[in-house]
Amino acid sequence: MDEIKTIIEPFRIKMVEPLSFTTREERARKLEEARYNVFKLKAEDILIDLLTDSGTSAMSNAQWAGIMMGDESYSGARSFYHFEETVKNLTGFKHIIPTHQGRAAERILFSIVGGAGKFIPNNTHFDTTRANIEFTRAEAHDLVIEEGKHPEVVHPFKGNMDLEKLQDFIEKVGADNIPLGMITVTNNSGGGQPVSMQNIRETAAIFHRHGIPFFLDACRFAENAYFIKTREKGYENKSIPEIVHEMFSYADGCTMSAKKDAMVNIGGFIAMNDDSLAEACRNLLILTEGFPTYGGLAGRDLEAMAIGLKEILDENYLKYRIASIAYLADKLRSGGVAIVEPPGGHAVFVDARKFLPHIPLNQYPAWAFTNALYELAGIRSVEIGSVMFGKKDGSGKEVPAPMDLVRLTIPRRVYTQSHFDYMAECILNLYKHRDEVKGVRITWQPPFLRHFTAEFEPVK
Ligand code: F0G
Repeated sequence: MDEIKTIIEPFRIKMVEPLSFTTREERARKLEEARYNVFKLKAEDILIDLLTDSGTSAMSNAQWAGIMMGDESYSGARSFYHFEETVKNLTGFKHIIPTHQGRAAERILFSIVGGAGKFIPNNTHFDTTRANIEFTRAEAHDLVIEEGKHPEVVHPFKGNMDLEKLQDFIEKVGADNIPLGMITVTNNSGGGQPVSMQNIRETAAIFHRHGIPFFLDACRFAENAYFIKTREKGYENKSIPEIVHEMFSYADGCTMSAKKDAMVNIGGFIAMNDDSLAEACRNLLILTEGFPTYGGLAGRDLEAMAIGLKEILDENYLKYRIASIAYLADKLRSGGVAIVEPPGGHAVFVDARKFLPHIPLNQYPAWAFTNALYELAGIRSVEIGSVMFGKKDGSGKEVPAPMDLVRLTIPRRVYTQSHFDYMAECILNLYKHRDEVKGVRITWQPPFLRHFTAEFEPVK
């Protein structure tokens, strides 16, 4: 018999959430009311929401059952011990500290190790990580390999750290001024690109040679592990838990947003081996998040996290997950749309400068794309470009970001193959009529993180 090649969603659906359909005229009006900023739309006016994969997962029947079993005791809850044991088994770290989400873990960690005159290198810092570092007046530095900065360049591990640059960086700023080094798996801001095991191992060795602790930003650790299994020699016959253990074994700790690869709607943690750092973290946790056995979460959230962290290791799930991203990428690519190659683990990134070459960079082509796609199809995507990352030069003139990308971020276990077909058809339709898409101008903006609330109008 022939081998069956169709990869299916590894779940069946027991509870459904209806989608809300709107007309194009209604969406045009809603977009205008939202001042041409899709962050300001009401979610119920969106048909398919690709804003983020964070906190948007569908939980399993086991996770929902766990919610009912949550122990809501203030201290020493059973759910905490279930969560702690699960994370210990997964990561091997000694201290497991729950937080309400990833950035809470970052704030606590960097409040302790950051400060003026300190430097934190990473492949690419996610924006909350960077913001939490810079808030302490420390500096956040991105040292991803050159290949990782070019959308069209194909490389199996575009999230890798540039080891030579890292070495030079440590020598330049001095190991004493680097309280810890990081790698983000997968590298979200660089296109959801994976980091190889060899690169994690060698990065760790460089940090450790200089006495610098090494932390993983582990939000998408399981997706990264699947890429290692399928792309790195020597790992094809290892199980996902084995690969995950090895990844964490090189690190001294991690920060985690459980809203990604723990498939929960809220949650996170910090984990580490260092006793005194853990004590300092717990002290801060009590101040702003909660007692160390709940960290700002309900017992039921800890329970759901513990179960999600086991489910994510299922190879059938990861195979489907990565295949579904590749499926959308293939359809867009064969229709002529330029995307970040190869597609990453949680999203397809469209190169908006190539999609909309007639829109000048100061009219934000990627932002214009998100508006046009919503108006055409009710699909919400997110700009990762010059609105989000544009900077002012010395004279106050705005310098565009290195790339203008649109992220089509795929929530976990939420959309089926026909939803993917719809996304691809609509984007290819938009591509056909791309000449009609107009650039945008900012009419109002806040002093920082402007993309969330800025207001726009189309350029006539
Ligand atoms: N680190 C990475 C790599 C992330 O992608 C995120 C969140 C965080 C840290 C912060 O975690 O949201 O739980 O506080 N990324 C989301 C996204 C918001 O849409 O990519 P959080």
